[in-house]
Amino acid sequence: MSIDVAVIPAAGRGTRMRPATRVVPKALLTVIDRPAIQYAVEEAARAGAKEAVVVVDLDAGHLVAQHFSLDGALPGLEDIQVRPVVQEEALGLGHAVSEAAHMVGDRSFFCLLSDNIVRPGHDVLASLGSGSRDGAVSVMCLRELSDEFLSRYGVVIPDSDVVDGFLDLAGAVEKPGVKAAPSRFGLVGRYVFTPEVFSILEKTSPGVGGEIQLTDAIQELGKRGRLRGYVAGESLLDVGTPEGLLIASYELGLDRYGPELFE
Ligand code: UTP
Repeated sequence: MSIDVAVIPAAGRGTRMRPATRVVPKALLTVIDRPAIQYAVEEAARAGAKEAVVVVDLDAGHLVAQHFSLDGALPGLEDIQVRPVVQEEALGLGHAVSEAAHMVGDRSFFCLLSDNIVRPGHDVLASLGSGSRDGAVSVMCLRELSDEFLSRYGVVIPDSDVVDGFLDLAGAVEKPGVKAAPSRFGLVGRYVFTPEVFSILEKTSPGVGGEIQLTDAIQELGKRGRLRGYVAGESLLDVGTPEGLLIASYELGLDRYGPELFE
């Protein structure tokens, strides 16, 4: 059975984007001509998802719903239903994912962080989906990180060599830093999860930063021997910081309008 639902956590505080996010939720900040969240929904639709469960904070719920439904569906998004679900308090990414449990049920699902946008032509969800053997195991999108990023990302514990881009994983550690890092492969915001992640998250206590960490649930999936990684060739565009948003606008603008725009 192919994967037909995506969970898109978008309820973070967005402190690195202040003052822009004092009133406007980070997921609704514009990148060229559409809010960041729309790129994630478009990506999920391209991978065949029919349903996008968007996890938002209390203020953003109705805005996100309106954005996707006002005057009918947006062009290209006619076949995907966007369903907001509210995370009342920003208790962490793992908690945000668990808020989607009742909408997803016992289906395997794509998970996409909306503050990372894929580069044009570099979608990874289809590869993650096929690596999951149609949702039988969880698959994490990975990128090789340089030293400075090992203290900013979740880093995985490899359990095999990389073959055709895929490897088995024994778990993951949140923001380990250079000395403690079990590898250089970082978790970059695109995943396929089996529904067992929800029961794991239910039992996950707050971790790094006092937040319920998705990485801690990934560690448990690894312990159970049901975790794989996919090493993506390209980094994603990070629109969660002012510098990243500027770079993303430039790169997506280059793709949309061509280099002559900047001459
Ligand atoms: P970040 O780690 O970027 O956190 O979240 P943030 O709160 O959004 O931003 P800063 O650090 O304050 O600037 C990674 C992803 O997880 C979602 C965010 O929306 C983002 O897509 N998230 C995080 C939630 O949905 N809920 C949370 O409680 C935390």
